[in-house]
Amino acid sequence: MKVGVVGLGAMGAGIAQLAVEAGLETVGREVTAELGEKARGRIDGFLKRKVEKGQIEAYDIGLLTTTTEVADLADCDVVIEAIVESLEPKQELFRELERVCRPDTVLATNTSALSVTEIASAISSAERVVGMHFFNPAPLMPLVEIVRAELSSDEAFETAYALGEKLGKHPIRCHDTPGFVVNRVLIPLLNDCVRVLDEARVSVEDLDAGMKHGAGWPMGPCELIDLVGTDVHVHASEALWAKLREPRMAAPPRLVAMANAGLLGRKTGRGFYTYES
Ligand code: CAA
Repeated sequence: MKVGVVGLGAMGAGIAQLAVEAGLETVGREVTAELGEKARGRIDGFLKRKVEKGQIEAYDIGLLTTTTEVADLADCDVVIEAIVESLEPKQELFRELERVCRPDTVLATNTSALSVTEIASAISSAERVVGMHFFNPAPLMPLVEIVRAELSSDEAFETAYALGEKLGKHPIRCHDTPGFVVNRVLIPLLNDCVRVLDEARVSVEDLDAGMKHGAGWPMGPCELIDLVGTDVHVHASEALWAKLREPRMAAPPRLVAMANAGLLGRKTGRGFYTYES
């Protein structure tokens, strides 16, 4: 099986890493050759470290090629899109993928909060579009949500499910509803966590300690939002709010202000916490 990944940011690079680890021929597409090479270098570094730690025996980075041309994804069996979380660019990309890929190529989106059905509506072969929603960091989080859009075919859906298994993930099946399964629950919960900062006048550190030591979370909510990115979290909250109109879904003003100020979390070095680069 040959896998294409479009967008080698944190999520796309993580997905490409999983494909290489699974021994699959992988083509990663980035907008510039330099970004593609940087992502390839990061992936190689993580895999090298896994070998050093004895977590895997070996890997072949030669399985991963990077390109700036969408046309180089033409003969992939599955292409996973992980570009910017915005409907129009995703729809434009799917139109291009429909033009260049084989008719039986499954086109998957890693969107976290947009509608897979709306993305698929941009093309005439919507039956081959499904959601494959990975969690951050993709190489470490075991789950992938396999999302059935209104017009997804059984064949495309099962191909995506089988790929999820091949990538070593625990796939779950769900339908295309706002936030799918995990984000439908997690986003309002994280928003509650941010609101409690002001309501209970608890410090960021104490809130994180509270949820880690009182609720068994592997990391605190503020650490988690820094990992996901305040911009990504605000965007996902707004998407859920727009669709479901539940007050808890709306992004807390404190987070919107952080995102607007460029305090995006780990990726900019500052969020709730400060990070060394
Ligand atoms: N590939 C391979 N290894 C990687 C890696 C990668 N891409 N990224 C990090 N690692 C490595 C680290 O370098 C580290 O290696 P070393 O021991 O050699 O330094 C190793 O993995 C483990 O790192 P940690 O010590 O940080 O591991 P941990 O045991 O603390 O677990 C965690 C980290 C898995 C992230 C854990 O804290 C956790 O489960 N956190 C919750 C994350 C979560 O909830 N994610 C979901 C976010 S929501 C989302 O993604 C949905 C959305 O749509 C926005």
